[in-house]
Amino acid sequence: MGNSLTPHVSHLTDSKKGTFISFEGIEGSGKSTQARLLYEYLEGKGFEVILTEEPGGTQIGLKIREILLSLEYREISSMTELLLYNASRFQHIQEVILPAIQRGAIVITDRFSDSTVAYQGYGRGIDLNLIDSLDRISTKNLRPDITILLDVDVEIGLKRNRGIQKTDRLELEDIEFHKKVRKGYFEIAAKESERIKVISASESIEAIHSQIISLVTKMIETWKR
Ligand code: TMP
Repeated sequence: MGNSLTPHVSHLTDSKKGTFISFEGIEGSGKSTQARLLYEYLEGKGFEVILTEEPGGTQIGLKIREILLSLEYREISSMTELLLYNASRFQHIQEVILPAIQRGAIVITDRFSDSTVAYQGYGRGIDLNLIDSLDRISTKNLRPDITILLDVDVEIGLKRNRGIQKTDRLELEDIEFHKKVRKGYFEIAAKESERIKVISASESIEAIHSQIISLVTKMIETWKR
């Protein structure tokens, strides 16, 4: 590899060697594009990188994703929704994320636990302590090393997604729901400012990508010391 981004593992326990990066944001924040660009960048540097998503990331997760996002199941209860996101996550952790991290890979996930806090907690109003307890089980207490939170105005984000014909069950919630989700993300970011880096999604794709590279590089460099 021979580049300045060689992952260093001294801060990690024996059971964890790799790097875990999550992307978060409301609808239309551009996180999927940025996750892919970071994946391509790191892969180009010679790292083993895995790009994955939630809900999804495994065969079972993809089935769960279909149920969660389908317009057919609009009667789904908030609690069923919460449990399904967690079910998808547990499978994802078990089958994909932990094995990759244990062998030293970089895992980039498009959404993770913060989405549940923002959408089911702040959006739906489910008790945050309950969400936290479930999360500890479904993640086996694994937290991302860094989370990139792309922030965009709710109206702009929704308009962007409708422009690309992306309309799933959660996107069709009213604007107030999405405003609560965005506020939730701000609150999570304020509580965990070390881990969560907020980036404004209103700049160009290239400018945002550069900011992300610089944050991720800095994080890896800090660990080397
Ligand atoms: P997306 O990955 O295409 O953004 O779609 C996933 C949708 O699921 C999005 O509306 C956010 C929502 N979601 C939750 O409500 N809770 C979660 O825990 C996750 C991972 C996603």
